[in-house]
Amino acid sequence: MTIVTDITTRNAATDAPLIGPLAERWSPRAYDPAAVIDPVTVQTILEAARWAPSASNTQPWRFIVAQRGSAEFTTIHEGLLGFNQAWADSAALLIVNIAEVTDADGKPRPWGRYDLGQAVAHLSVQAQHEGLHTHQMGGFEAAHLHEAFGLDDSLEVVSVMAIGVLGDVETLPAALQERESAPRSRKPLDEIVLRRA
Ligand SMILES: Cc1cc2nc3c(=O)[nH]c(=O)nc-3n(C[C@H](O)[C@H](O)[C@H](O)COP(=O)(O)O)c2cc1C
Repeated sequence: MTIVTDITTRNAATDAPLIGPLAERWSPRAYDPAAVIDPVTVQTILEAARWAPSASNTQPWRFIVAQRGSAEFTTIHEGLLGFNQAWADSAALLIVNIAEVTDADGKPRPWGRYDLGQAVAHLSVQAQHEGLHTHQMGGFEAAHLHEAFGLDDSLEVVSVMAIGVLGDVETLPAALQERESAPRSRKPLDEIVLRRA
């Protein structure tokens, strides 16, 4: 079995040069279970989310940020599906990414999830710049997290994100070790750009 020892092998094989954090970002599952992210860095990555653009500057993103060892971390971890629970407990931080999908009058915020996604993207690029790695997840029980954190109906749990310091791949279950070194691929540009004038 091939195990990742040189993380540069995970860099994106881009057809055009990208800035470092974008080329180097990938979604590992092996995190150092002893690593702690200092509060200043946590603040910095949240600041990156805070300064994302949003429709009419509504800033409809909300986050629950939990350090490993906290009760909130345990609650988030319990809300993950088993295939994510198997590795995400070693992350230094778990963040619940939440979109405000209706405004104070109950009217839909059509860009709420879009804006949240953009804020999470900013956060993940800043985290990469800080020497951290991130892994977003859709495999969780939204109703469990919604209830556990007492969220109101205007808020939707959209994704969960693990953030941490790279750890030892060999601590993962065998099937996940293989996925850590599986080839990374993307659709070609001419498939995703429908028209380019
Ligand atoms: C919204 C979203 C949901 C995802 N859900 C999961 C998940 O539940 N479990 C998992 O291991 N990875 C999950 N991923 C990670 C993707 O599989 C990963 O980003 C994709 O394969 C591309 O790999 P890369 O991030 O290393 O470039 C998710 C990513 C996103 C953006």
